[in-house]
Amino acid sequence: MQVATDFLIIGSGIAGLRAAADLAALGDVLILTKADEPAETNTGYAQGGIAVALGPDDSPALHAADTLAAGDGLCDEAAVSVLVGEGPRYVRELSEWGVRFDGEADGALAFGREAAHSVRRVLHARDATGREIARALWARVSALPRVRFRAGARAIEVIVRDGVACGARFIEHGRIGEVRARATLLATGGAGQVFLETSNPPIATGDGVTLAWYAGARVADLEFVQFHPTVLAVEGRPRFLLSEALRGEDAHLLNAAGERFMTRYEPAGELAARDLVSRAIAREARRTGAPIYLSMAHLDAAWVHDRFPNIAAACRAAGLDLARDRIPVSPAAHYAMGGVETDLWARTSVPGLFAAGEAACTGVHGANRLASNSLLEGLVFGARAAIAMATPPQAGGLTHGRVDAAALRPVAATDVPDERALRTLMWHDVGLVRERAALDAAVPVLEGWRRAARAAWRLAEADPALWRLVSLSTVGALVARGALRREESRGGHYRADFPRRDDVHWQIHIVERGHVEAEAPEQ
Ligand code: FAD
Ligand code: SIN
Repeated sequence: MQVATDFLIIGSGIAGLRAAADLAALGDVLILTKADEPAETNTGYAQGGIAVALGPDDSPALHAADTLAAGDGLCDEAAVSVLVGEGPRYVRELSEWGVRFDGEADGALAFGREAAHSVRRVLHARDATGREIARALWARVSALPRVRFRAGARAIEVIVRDGVACGARFIEHGRIGEVRARATLLATGGAGQVFLETSNPPIATGDGVTLAWYAGARVADLEFVQFHPTVLAVEGRPRFLLSEALRGEDAHLLNAAGERFMTRYEPAGELAARDLVSRAIAREARRTGAPIYLSMAHLDAAWVHDRFPNIAAACRAAGLDLARDRIPVSPAAHYAMGGVETDLWARTSVPGLFAAGEAACTGVHGANRLASNSLLEGLVFGARAAIAMATPPQAGGLTHGRVDAAALRPVAATDVPDERALRTLMWHDVGLVRERAALDAAVPVLEGWRRAARAAWRLAEADPALWRLVSLSTVGALVARGALRREESRGGHYRADFPRRDDVHWQIHIVERGHVEAEAPEQ
């Protein structure tokens, strides 16, 4: 099955749809999306909202300062400036396209507060902002005559000829297909599923990093994983996210004795940056040997239910009242700061190949993402990708003066990994708190699993379950290698054996150039 198009977009979240909205004026667009339901994306689950400097007490400069502070010394300042500077224009455009953000009684936009923001800055649609944005983008893009979708179509390989990306191979209903395109965008989202505990849906397996890496592209900053402090931690229930907006509206974190404990660990209390709150929760749970709870019992119950209807419903399904009960919480893998390295126009190091949204590493988040900056990134850099994709590829692609990771040690042959074993290893040994001995042991295991999964998949390429293992093990190995290599603590990366930030040695990015396999002969 061969398909031709001008522009190929892999992924139907905010980044892919925003790019498609502009590309459709320039040529034929094909969107591949691996779930049978195109709305099944991280975007659709976004709760808290979209951060944007539109409030009366705000400015792009203030938004940039908060983003840089959260990024802990590793943000790309030029990328941050693009994000906060162009953000307002693209968010206004979303409103023009029909997104209904919540308003105040006087009709002004209602801005929510989230951790590490110095002002109220987060536009929201109750607690289901992503669903509302996705609804409006989908309505707009699916009505464009030059856009086609293939749902249930999973990209498995970027086609590279003479060093230039010219499309992708995909699996659809057990068959392999091929799309030829003049520009290909990876808008494949995050990688939370690499960890046992995650807020992310099953589609979030880091496919963009895997596709790019095997196409020979550079990937960066993968050791920086954000662990959200609060998912619902009820045995047998999904790890449903309990938005930071709850703490923004004064929800308290309590230990089993009912004491607020956050200020013992962090002066900013419940509104400290996510990595700090996550580690404080883990430490307090270890100290007390008991669960940690979120409580809104001191707030008006009717208001809590009205402001957070979806979270209240998820709690109700677990037998809990969000406004009255103590809600058991724990941290979970939430967001990948690293990804496919790009310049300010979503260009990767492989000409013809672009990346935007959570799959990309533009440098806007540095070592830790400011809450609600991700939807904004997908929007702004999705739009920028469309502009760049319309330009013919230039040989050479992205060149950044960054550090390449050390070569791998050889590993012994192993069996194809068991998914649960892989995710458990990542959670325990490459998770919230890392240290050398565990990482030293984990890296060769993950690398062995990566090779075994890749070899097995090569013999059965139409098997999506095997490809999923390829992606989980590839991303897992890359995260673990970066985590072992970075001997300091910064942002989302915490090493118990190197607990301090070390700007002298580590104010650099760990970059790996992908592994190019032999090109298949032209058919
Ligand atoms: P996604 O929206 O994840 O879309 C990825 C798409 O790629 C999907 O369509 C998927 O099926 C497709 N895909 C993946 N691999 C393949 C493949 N191999 N072949 C074909 N298709 C593929 N951020 C905020 O800014 N504010 C928030 O309030 C917020 N809340 C969040 C709440 C939750 C529970 C979660 C999980 C995340 C939240 N985030 C939030 C993060 C944010 O939602 C994501 O980072 C962002 O939506 C990513 O958008 P994207 O377009 O890059 O990817
Ligand atoms: C949340 O609502 O807490 C998630 C916000 C984000 O990930 O930016």
